Amino acid sequence: TRHLLGIKDLTPEDIELIMATATEFKEVINRPIKKVPSLRDVTIANVFFENSTRTRLSFELAEKRLSADTLSFSAAGSSVKKGETLLDTVNNILAMKVDMIVMRHASPGAPHYLSKHISANIVNAGDGTHEHPTQALLDSFSMREKLGDLAGKKIAIIGDILHSRVALSNIFALKKQGAEVMLCGPSTLIPRHITELGVTVCHDVKKALAWCDVANVLRIQLERQQIKYFPSLREYSLYYGINKKMLDELDKEIVLMHPGPINRGVELTSDAADSHHSIILDQVENGVAVRMAVLYLLAAQN
Ligand code: CP
Repeated sequence: TRHLLGIKDLTPEDIELIMATATEFKEVINRPIKKVPSLRDVTIANVFFENSTRTRLSFELAEKRLSADTLSFSAAGSSVKKGETLLDTVNNILAMKVDMIVMRHASPGAPHYLSKHISANIVNAGDGTHEHPTQALLDSFSMREKLGDLAGKKIAIIGDILHSRVALSNIFALKKQGAEVMLCGPSTLIPRHITELGVTVCHDVKKALAWCDVANVLRIQLERQQIKYFPSLREYSLYYGINKKMLDELDKEIVLMHPGPINRGVELTSDAADSHHSIILDQVENGVAVRMAVLYLLAAQN
């Protein structure tokens, strides 16, 4: 494939290749000389129509470590504000001899639409409530560092599943690696037909924690809620919030993950987020190596 639009399109073999390549790049970027010349003469534009801290900086750093030339575009402050379309914006960027587009957009399917109209490689850096493939790949990479092979491992995804592209990409990635997936949250924040993807649903956070090897905790995405959903943030933290005591009292060690940004005091208390159970900053570290792998493998096909 010329693009990475979603995990849904990947085979288990594709995922294994990305994991193996990311393992090599993680070794490279832990050396004193972190840069490799692999993408010299490749120009990559990071085109962000939605806010980002981790994904954007992580792609920029991955591109720099691979010696690519990079451009950064934010819709805020651009001619999008004067009414320029997505396709015109991207075609103008490509006219400057850009080879790859890394794009985040609020509309589900925006990178898929773009892929039908342009010839450059596209990497989806998050499209609305749909997919966030590199997040799921870095999540799987981080789980595998702690647990090894994910086949048969029990992963609970806890939070606002309805509005989460991280949840959907994780479900696809984890199922393709043979893991068992449980979704946990209030029924108002779980899509109705989600069990058709081969996952189970639980509405009791304590039961989900007792079941799982990994708890991947998501925030409530208020910015995507068209109507005021039940529960409120206060109610959510009361019924679904996770604190360190809940993790300490389990009769086993579990791995605590979160893609960020954390709403401290809502889905996680600070004492849980900053505890020895958490690998949240390891996820961020691994994001660079995983994104290097994705960019390198796509460029290698050109
Ligand atoms: N995890 C994630 O996508 O974070 P950002 O929105 O800050 O990029």
